[in-house]
Amino acid sequence: MAAVVLVGMMGCGKTTIGRMLAEELGVPFCDTDHLLQHRLGRPIHQLFELYGEETFRQHETRILKDLAREDRVLATGGGIVVRPENWIELERLGVTVFLDVAEATLIQRLRTAKKRRPLLETENWEERVHLLRATRLPLYSKAQVRVVLENDDFQSVVKQILERLP
Ligand code: S3P
Repeated sequence: MAAVVLVGMMGCGKTTIGRMLAEELGVPFCDTDHLLQHRLGRPIHQLFELYGEETFRQHETRILKDLAREDRVLATGGGIVVRPENWIELERLGVTVFLDVAEATLIQRLRTAKKRRPLLETENWEERVHLLRATRLPLYSKAQVRVVLENDDFQSVVKQILERLP
C-alpha cells in the first residue's frame, strides 16, 4: 500500500492530473491544500493572511505527518518541498513524482487560473514564479520520478506516470 505523491510548481497540473491518475488507478484522490482548508476551516489565502507563510508551512507539515500510508493519489501544495522534514513524510507515504513544466507554460496557465494563490498576489507575480521555480527546482528534483510536461495533453502524462511507477 502506497500513495503516488505529486509535487511541482503552482499551476503545473497536480490537481487535474492527480484526479485523472486516481481514477485510472481506482484509488482515492486527495490534496494537501484541501485537507488543510478542511482542518482549519478557511481558504488557503485567508490562512496566509491570518497566520503568515511560516505558520501555514507548520500546518502543512502537520497534515503530512497525520496522513497514513495508503493507496491514494496525493497532490501537494507547490511549497511542500521547501521543508526538509516534509521529505521524510512524502517518501514515507509513497512514490514521489515531479511534474516538471516550463516557466512560460506555468505563467500562461496561472494568468487565467481561478484558484487564489497568495504568494502570487503581487504586481511582479511573473518574476515571483521565475524565482520560486528556480529556487525549488533542485528540491522538486529529489522526487523519484520526473515527468516533463511539454503540452497540455494530461492523458499522456497520466500514461507516462503509470509506466514509470516502480
Ligand atoms: C503554494 C502553492 C499552493 C498553496 C499555497 C502555497 C506554494 O498550492 O499551497 O498557495 O508555495 O507554491 P498549489 O501548488 O496547488 O497552487
